[in-house]
Amino acid sequence: MAPGPTDMRGPCPGLNTLANHGYVPRNGIVSVDHIMNAAQVRFNLGSGFSKAVASFAVLSRGNPMLNLISIGGESALVHPLPGNIDGIPGGLSKHGRFEGDVSMTRRDAAFGDCASFQPSMFANLLTYAEKLGQDGIVTPEVFVNYRFDLFLQSISKNPKMTFHEGRRAFGYGEAGLTLDLMPDGPAGSPPPPCPYS
Ligand code: HEM
Repeated sequence: MAPGPTDMRGPCPGLNTLANHGYVPRNGIVSVDHIMNAAQVRFNLGSGFSKAVASFAVLSRGNPMLNLISIGGESALVHPLPGNIDGIPGGLSKHGRFEGDVSMTRRDAAFGDCASFQPSMFANLLTYAEKLGQDGIVTPEVFVNYRFDLFLQSISKNPKMTFHEGRRAFGYGEAGLTLDLMPDGPAGSPPPPCPYS
């Protein structure tokens, strides 16, 4: 189901998909437990990894005292911490901490909106699949080359580009998540009904 006008969606296609299917609340305002459970049950992600990533998200861009985060931009439902000690929690769309440069389908923050899907970037990725994939199917080699070329382009065009160790690991990890968790395989059994209508 497409998100409504006030529903939050952001830079992560995995979390956006979970919200579109109602596997986490459709308004995109979620807790550590929502993310953890949905990632494990719907994507078969390991429990340790799910806990770590969900906790990092809420700690870095949410309100850990409320145990809430927006998977997109700022939300009035996710209040600042007492005394406003860390400003307004930006949600996952806010650049820095979690969202970073050299994304596969999102722009670098220096060039504007860094959270919305860019069809032209996706089209470019598909040309790599044509050139390097197996009969047009995306393989690890496609992502390795696509990501590295994006990195070189960012270095040459974006003086404010950052790609620190954590981002490097996540950047390549995100490509791995796509390969592992979103394969185009034969139809399996239908998923159980979604809890958030
Ligand atoms: C479990 C909790 C998860 C959290 C907190 C999370 C969070 C994020 C965030 C903040 C980004 C943006 C990073 C950037 O700047 O590019 C991102 C990107 C991404 N996520 Fe997730 N994610 C999670 C799970 C998943 C899952 C389950 C999948 C796949 C099924 C997934 C696939 C991706 C992909 C492919 C990107 C890269 C998008 C791009 O570079 O254009 N994520 N995620």
